[in-house]
Amino acid sequence: MRIGILGSGLMGGKLGTIFARAGHDVVFSYSHSKAKLEKLARDAGGRARAGTPEEAVRDADALLLAVHWTRVDDVLKKSGNLSGKVIVTCSLPMNAKDTALAIAHTSSGAEELAKKIPKAHVVSAFNTLPSEVFFSVFEGDAGEAQPSVVYCSDDKRAKKVAAQLIKDAGFEPVDAGPLRIARYTEPFALLMGQLAYEGDRGPAVAYRFEWFEERKQGAVVAP
Ligand SMILES: NC(=O)c1ccc[n+]([C@@H]2O[C@H](COP(=O)([O-])OP(=O)(O)OC[C@H]3O[C@@H](n4cnc5c(N)ncnc54)[C@H](OP(=O)(O)O)[C@@H]3O)[C@@H](O)[C@H]2O)c1
Repeated sequence: MRIGILGSGLMGGKLGTIFARAGHDVVFSYSHSKAKLEKLARDAGGRARAGTPEEAVRDADALLLAVHWTRVDDVLKKSGNLSGKVIVTCSLPMNAKDTALAIAHTSSGAEELAKKIPKAHVVSAFNTLPSEVFFSVFEGDAGEAQPSVVYCSDDKRAKKVAAQLIKDAGFEPVDAGPLRIARYTEPFALLMGQLAYEGDRGPAVAYRFEWFEERKQGAVVAP
């Protein structure tokens, strides 16, 4: 796929590199520094390159939105026409001081984003993970258990694209349902951040669900 990265910081820089190494055609965009975008593209290898948000969007099969919530309007304005585009967002709707969710419970960052760009197809994914885990999972150092990533969207095709990207990054995709489920995954992402950055050590978190009739098991959530 051709993948545009909107926001090339901790999340966008790492996931963009992983997508490029998984064989996708990646354009890194939106940083204060053009030199940083060029270095990211060089280090990622393959056909990765640096560009403007508009260049990242043009011809993209999927976009990763990975900016602070306060930068969303700016990056969307610089992105040009997003009609019909699949947008995978890992952005959490944090307030400017990063102390709390600015949107929660009755809506979510992902739903508000979808309202801003009604002709695009938004998927919420990757935001329950601290960016520090991405490379070890992609490189297979995470041990035997394959960690999972939950995603949600109202659009079937966008879900398919996101599931493929999650697989390509080394995770098991877990379909959590419609986009409104982001109301619950976004606060959950803060719990994961709390455990990862402020606890003694980031624990491996996994839930196993027993399905009574089928006794089918599913493991959800990493790291
Ligand atoms: N980090 C995590 O582990 C994590 C986990 C889950 C969810 N998230 C969410 O993912 C989103 C991105 O997080 P992050 O940690 O990747 O953030 P980040 O490292 O700060 O990256 C943000 C990117 O936006 C760029 N940017 C910011 N203001 C800009 C401006 N005025 N002009 C041009 N570029 C600008 C930054 O430029 P520079 O390259 O110059 O810095 C950087 O490339 C956030 O919504 C966060 O809540 C993060």
